Amino acid sequence: MHRIISRGLALACVAAVSLAVATGAAAQSGAQQGAANAKIKVGFMLPYTGTYAALGNAIENGFRMYVDEQGGRLGGREVQYFKVDDESDPAKAPENATKLIKRDQVDVVIGTVHSGVQMGIVKVAKENNTLLIIPNAGADEATGPLCGPNIFRSSFSNWQPGYAMGQVVANRGMKRVVTLTWKYAAGEQSVRGFKEAFEAKGGKVVKELNLPFPNVEFQALITEIASIKPDAVFVFFAGGGAVKFVKDWAAAGLKDRIPLYASGFLTDGTLEAQGAAAQGLETTLHYADGLQNPRDQRFRLAYAKAFKLQPDVYAVQGYDAAQMLAAGAAAVNGDMSRKNDVYKAIAAARIDSPRGVFTLSRAHNPVQDFYLRKVQGNENKVSGIAVKALADPARGCRL
Ligand code: BEZ
Repeated sequence: MHRIISRGLALACVAAVSLAVATGAAAQSGAQQGAANAKIKVGFMLPYTGTYAALGNAIENGFRMYVDEQGGRLGGREVQYFKVDDESDPAKAPENATKLIKRDQVDVVIGTVHSGVQMGIVKVAKENNTLLIIPNAGADEATGPLCGPNIFRSSFSNWQPGYAMGQVVANRGMKRVVTLTWKYAAGEQSVRGFKEAFEAKGGKVVKELNLPFPNVEFQALITEIASIKPDAVFVFFAGGGAVKFVKDWAAAGLKDRIPLYASGFLTDGTLEAQGAAAQGLETTLHYADGLQNPRDQRFRLAYAKAFKLQPDVYAVQGYDAAQMLAAGAAAVNGDMSRKNDVYKAIAAARIDSPRGVFTLSRAHNPVQDFYLRKVQGNENKVSGIAVKALADPARGCRL
């Protein structure tokens, strides 16, 4: 009896174990297959409302266009999108970034435009070791003291376009310059870059004026500039605020009296709205209209066809953020859990951008040409290269 029961039990146990092994194996191969088929989750954290709304939309358009050109897949995996409107509000940045990373479990955050918001995203991305590709915000810290293996930028540091324009203005023999900007990192760091190059060549910034972001009450400041009578003025404004400033400057009658220079955000994506007030303005930026490269020509045609709009620098930065992600995803055949391999591949990538080919500095910021541009009609026409292969100094970055 005892033997019979034992044998029956043993058979039952063998059957149960076999079933468990078979079920486990099936589950495991299902999981592997699930991982192999997992989508790459992309979280856009961008401004979709407020003065920078158009910039956020252009970045998303550019990014999606590149992914669509790859058949909707990177590294062999389908791409799935999540989005948060960051409202250009630094106070909401940590919570918004956490939503994408913890709730939506994204593989990469693509964000953002505003330098103050960027600081919050960088902090959360570093704490969670989540891949971050910055498609605009120039916050010098992100590729300076806060640089990290998982932090990349497809755009510029605030220092870069300001520094390029400082050289141009000094080379033109201007001596006394007034600066004007919104009082937050993007404006202040652009002015710092301008001042560094301009004063190294013998110029002097005689007054630094500012107003809170995103205020557009420029009148009193324009009156003050007129009374100082500088050789030139350097400003940082972008988006809706840039449109208003350029119109107010012309309406005050200063357009033909005091030379106005700026980083190219003053006139990028804004020319239709600025109209006659912008004609002839000169700016420096890492993109321009009229670049004679076939890569750019293809990009512009495709963008105009897809969105019924001319692309601007923000669309290029979005497109290139997707190219950077593609380089990382390709290196791991879409397995984004291999984080260090993804980071290494992006850091080493050579990006075939519509702006011209660029590579990344050791701090993961583009090393790129800065063009001198002049407004003609609705174009920021390239008139030369202000500084070739300009690298941000990456002060404080230990990578
Ligand atoms: C920034 O906040 O970093 C920024 C915003 C708009 C254009 C350029 C820079």
